[in-house]
Amino acid sequence: MPRVLSGIQPSGDLHLGNYFGAVRNWVADQERADAFYCIVDLHALTTSIEPGQLRRQTVDAACVLLAAGLDPNQCTLFVQSHVPAHQQLTWLLECTATVGELRRMTQFKDKGGGQETVRVGLFTYPVLMAADILLYNADQVPVGDDQRQHLELTREIAIRFNNRYGGVFTVPEATIPKVGARVMDLQHPERKMSKSVSSPLGTVGILEAPEEIERKIKKAVTDTDGEVRYDPESKPGLANLLSLLAASTDGRPEQLAENYDRYGDLKKDVAAALIEALRPLRERYAELDADRGEVLRLLGLGAVQAREVANETYARAADAVGLLAEP
Ligand code: TRP
Repeated sequence: MPRVLSGIQPSGDLHLGNYFGAVRNWVADQERADAFYCIVDLHALTTSIEPGQLRRQTVDAACVLLAAGLDPNQCTLFVQSHVPAHQQLTWLLECTATVGELRRMTQFKDKGGGQETVRVGLFTYPVLMAADILLYNADQVPVGDDQRQHLELTREIAIRFNNRYGGVFTVPEATIPKVGARVMDLQHPERKMSKSVSSPLGTVGILEAPEEIERKIKKAVTDTDGEVRYDPESKPGLANLLSLLAASTDGRPEQLAENYDRYGDLKKDVAAALIEALRPLRERYAELDADRGEVLRLLGLGAVQAREVANETYARAADAVGLLAEP
């Protein structure tokens, strides 16, 4: 079985983009792979998040992932900071990566990389991400398109380290999810649904109330030619609605388009399909939310499993660079 690792930030309410683009694939992958899933609370510290909020959102994220179908008997779900090896390996990799490489990261540039006041952690974010991946000898890393460059850097770092010190790391590959999984902003369908840049009307949270989902889909931006057709280039709003319908019914957007003459009918069905697809998740979330002690217990077990793998890799890396083993 291939080893899979992925990470998600505990950034508050996950939205449809996170669900259809990532979380749902994670659930599917736990059957065919030896999967490790990491809630990356250390990465969240690169933003100005309030301590209480970070703690709460970390457990929230675990609840959502479990509610979505991650099964601790089939995968290892853990919190990044519970495995100190992530921070330990980061240093070794910071002594492998170069300033030039990190400066070229588009995510860093987009988030204000040129400014004096930007946090050092935002600059070294991709190195921590490389540590997340390399510690688990991951073969495959399912990520969105926006993380492709970070994955490429991870590979570069792994290859350089291996060349310099001997073959310590598995060189991972990015697995980008299938087409149709890219969910766009409902108000600005030319850009990705994203919590940080979207208006509240543009994003739908996974746990949002059915009436809210209905309202937002009804208000979703379309176009004025009135023809129902799947054409992401010239009809991005409509294409997004058809993709959402396809994602929630396991259909194909081109084919689904043929069933509709009017935008209103399509929107009604999109809302109904989303509500139905998310219903089991909402119900399980409510149960887990009421029993956070159990969620914490599961995270504890995940941390033990994760540490076992991570510590072994870290020890090999530390030995390879010449750090003296504790006598
Ligand atoms: N940077 C990723 C994102 O924002 C999250 C992440 C952190 C990650 N570590 C990872 C993803 C390791 C995959 C593997 O989406």
